[in-house]
Amino acid sequence: MVSEPDLSVKIGSLVLKNPVMPASGTFGPEMAAFIDFNRLGAIVPKSITKAARPGNKIPRVCEVEGGMINSIGIQSKGVEAYIRHTLPVYTDFDVPLIASISGESVGEFAELAERLSKDSRVAALELNISCPNLRNNGRGRAHRG
Ligand SMILES: Cc1cc2nc3c(=O)[nH]c(=O)nc-3n(C[C@H](O)[C@H](O)[C@H](O)COP(=O)(O)O)c2cc1C
Repeated sequence: MVSEPDLSVKIGSLVLKNPVMPASGTFGPEMAAFIDFNRLGAIVPKSITKAARPGNKIPRVCEVEGGMINSIGIQSKGVEAYIRHTLPVYTDFDVPLIASISGESVGEFAELAERLSKDSRVAALELNISCPNLRNNGRGRAHRG
């Protein structure tokens, strides 16, 4: 009998059964129609900000010869909606959830980290510290033009 290879990885105190995790923003519950979430190493929902924000104006996705480019601008329902509506969607899966957080200042990152690290449904935090389609790489407000 051939045994399965051990693909587990350790990040700090967090152990993932494999290193496969979706890129934040490209993944949501609708993907369950295509993949078994329990096979992922971790689930990473779209980045969340402290307050709700609309993101950039449309058009913000464009098909190009090599694929597509996007400039969503971190559309977000805000952290309270994330806790109320996003986290419960994933609790039935046997996969750690990594919360991607995005702030406009160090203080906002700290507030988000404090709020979410208290929630047992969040196994780890990912800091979205460089969003190229936001002014100042995400350390300021989104472009509106
Ligand atoms: C529609 C869309 C929304 C995205 N939203 C986020 C986001 O909220 N946070 C983030 O860190 N990255 C976001 N990204 C970037 C992706 O996580 C990823 O880095 C990007 O698609 C490049 O992936 P690749 O290196 O596999 O091509 C988004 C990408 C797309 C296409």
